[in-house]
Amino acid sequence: MKPKIHLVVGARPNFIKASPVYRSLNQLNKFELKLVNTGQHYDQNMSSIFIQELRMKEPDINLEVGSGLHGEQTGKILSLYEKVLIKDKPNMVIVFGDVNSTIACSLAAAKLGIPIAHVESGLRSFDWKMPEEINRVLTDRLSTFLFTTSPEAKDNLINEGISIEKIHFVGNTMIDSLIEFQDKFEKSNVRENLDIQGDYALITLHRPSNVDNGNNLKKLINSIQNTSKIIPCIFPIHPRTKKKLQSAKLYNELLNNKRIKLIDPMGYIDFMCLQMNARIVLTDSGGIQEETTFFGVPCITVRENTERPITISNGTNKLIGAEYDKIPEEIEDTIKDKCDKYSIPTLWDGNSAGRISKILDLYFFD
Ligand code: UD1
Ligand code: UDP
Repeated sequence: MKPKIHLVVGARPNFIKASPVYRSLNQLNKFELKLVNTGQHYDQNMSSIFIQELRMKEPDINLEVGSGLHGEQTGKILSLYEKVLIKDKPNMVIVFGDVNSTIACSLAAAKLGIPIAHVESGLRSFDWKMPEEINRVLTDRLSTFLFTTSPEAKDNLINEGISIEKIHFVGNTMIDSLIEFQDKFEKSNVRENLDIQGDYALITLHRPSNVDNGNNLKKLINSIQNTSKIIPCIFPIHPRTKKKLQSAKLYNELLNNKRIKLIDPMGYIDFMCLQMNARIVLTDSGGIQEETTFFGVPCITVRENTERPITISNGTNKLIGAEYDKIPEEIEDTIKDKCDKYSIPTLWDGNSAGRISKILDLYFFD
């Protein structure tokens, strides 16, 4: 019988990180693989569009948890997935990133003594106000295989007492997807469809620290309005942010600005086309800090800290904190410069998933 491995997805970035790992393990033809979708994200353009565009198979198991408070959502996933694990008895669970689905499924597996492999291990913002930091630290503590994307992750893990044999520097599977689908981004006609000519700033925002507080959100939107006087903006809006803007009565104000294209969240291929061709990106996303570094597109990150410091030391990323009123000036200054001082981090080479499957192959068959 082939060893059975579950790969857990749920939120938008999980699909992008999991797809190459699934494909690489599948090519070995030595494992029975099951894709488990928690349903943390459920809108078509936050979930199933990624399964289609990344050529993933339909999930074998759907937990359909939907949204909720942290305890509610995490608890629901934990309880539903525990039942799946008891019935299906996988030999390993692979989890990705730092979302509630990651920690909930790790906890369920750990309590049943099932080994966990964590892809994107060891990233630390050292900011315990972020729900993701809690998810990252706890998932790493429970994992047997810690697959890291950048060198400083190893030091973070060792400082937390994790033994070095568990840590494997494999590179970045999100960049594997980027490299695999890059020719598709180039062929996308999203810019013609959106009637975009010339330079633009691409904006994504969804961190609770930026969008959940009405006062912060108001200041942020004011700055985006001012930014649009400098450069046209495209703003594919995360559902969390859309809801907050609507309840703060700021949504229509943005919609009426002809220099801002306020659009629904986009599928992977079109979004990546917009990202690689942007003059500048303004974001609070984790993954987009990395993708802009790979593309060499300047990125201004609206956060006090980042768990991805390599995007600053090697890449094109700059943290601006919560000083929202500085955004237009920062953008204006940045787009004046040629951004040529960046390098792609080591092992962000499209082969990270291959390294992971080689390690797991050895573990199960050596
Ligand atoms: C989650 C992750 C975050 C990640 C982000 C990626 C946690 C704690 N947070 O944040 O780390 O960066 O996903 O996008 O796991 N909603 C919809 N439709 C959907 C999904 C969400 O309308 O398909 C709305 C709901 O009102 C929901 C809100 O968005 O309450 C937030 O969704 P949730 O998954 O709780 O957190 P995100 O902000 O998406
Ligand atoms: N993304 C996308 N469409 C969008 C916005 C983002 O395909 O409208 C992609 C983005 O390129 C990256 C991933 O989603 O690959 C990042 O997800 P998100 O910002 O939601 O989560 P985070 O990385 O912050 O956890």
